[in-house]
Amino acid sequence: MKALVLAGGKGTRLRPLTHTSAKQLVPVANKPVLFYGLEAIRAAGITSVGIVVGDTGAEVRDAVGDGSSFGLDVTYIAQHAPLGLAHCVLIAREFLTDAPFVMYLGDNFLVDGIADLVDSFRKADYDAQILLTKVAEPQFYGVAELGPNGEILRLEEKPEHPRSDLAIVGVYTFSPAIHEAVRAITPSARGELEITDAIEWLIARGHRVHSHFVSGYWKDTGRLQDILECNRIVLEMINGAVCGAVDGRSEIAGNVVIEPGASVEGSVIRGPAVTGADARVRNSYIGPYTSIGDSCLVQDSEVEYAIVLKDSTIKGVSRLTYSLIGRNVEVTRAEGIPNTHQLMVGDHSRVQVRA
Ligand code: TTP
Repeated sequence: MKALVLAGGKGTRLRPLTHTSAKQLVPVANKPVLFYGLEAIRAAGITSVGIVVGDTGAEVRDAVGDGSSFGLDVTYIAQHAPLGLAHCVLIAREFLTDAPFVMYLGDNFLVDGIADLVDSFRKADYDAQILLTKVAEPQFYGVAELGPNGEILRLEEKPEHPRSDLAIVGVYTFSPAIHEAVRAITPSARGELEITDAIEWLIARGHRVHSHFVSGYWKDTGRLQDILECNRIVLEMINGAVCGAVDGRSEIAGNVVIEPGASVEGSVIRGPAVTGADARVRNSYIGPYTSIGDSCLVQDSEVEYAIVLKDSTIKGVSRLTYSLIGRNVEVTRAEGIPNTHQLMVGDHSRVQVRA
């Protein structure tokens, strides 16, 4: 079996980060979300992986390389424009040959991985298997309607009146029958080749399309609140390890990882939290569910429930929370009078200040 990982896309919901970076590389507990997916694929016994990349392909290639550090053999497939999930299958035809495969959306996170799904697909004789989970607000998701034996009867994209509360999670398994389906369909109203249309095509022609339920926590990390929540879930599972230097005036409480080369002086860190390699925390408070990236400086500040990417500086800021800070960003106190907020932020940024 092979794997097809989708790491292109527009990433509009995570702008401005996605103007310059791949959303699949946003770190969760200081590790790119894509890496958890690649590890899950390897844990399911798959080693041949095609990664679909778009504008941010160079960054994804830099991060993943030939895949050997994950025990994988990775082939990159360039998608010239984000023309839909089924378009990804279409352009991966040569890589996939006639092998059955798992398709994994690179910004999805599953605590329990995908071994269960892949095992059940290997044993059964389905043409497609769709991972599902119960959600509270199905109208915001792709929704599946099931028959009495777990077969998929119908799929609907963000239906106004959902027929079930079963949302489609971003992992699918397919037999080579999907290739004919993705060739047969036409672009949707939003101009994309939809994988749901290709699966509907299979169902309409009597192919066996079955459901599989997610066993543990799942999150699509495409939005700020989701990536912060995902960071919280992963941090809740970490074991503390202090490898960096902590001075006698500092207090470390709960599960806290301090990577080698990091230093903490005159500060309080309340876990779960991680502080990346060579980061410096001075006279500051780092609260629960916070990931501070490599080589960051946090000084005279308070930060909690936040993700700060590498090489950023937070200085003299009284309380930063519910925040995702990009790479090489400076957040500092505006000195002097009048008491103002001084901003230089990128396109599509969101800044909330306490007036
Ligand atoms: P989405 O999150 O559905 O789409 P998007 O990346 O364009 O994001 P947004 O809605 O915020 O604009 O995509 C799911 C995954 O599939 C994600 O990892 C990106 C990837 N993808 C591709 O690789 N190629 C594509 O053509 C599309 C649509 C998505």
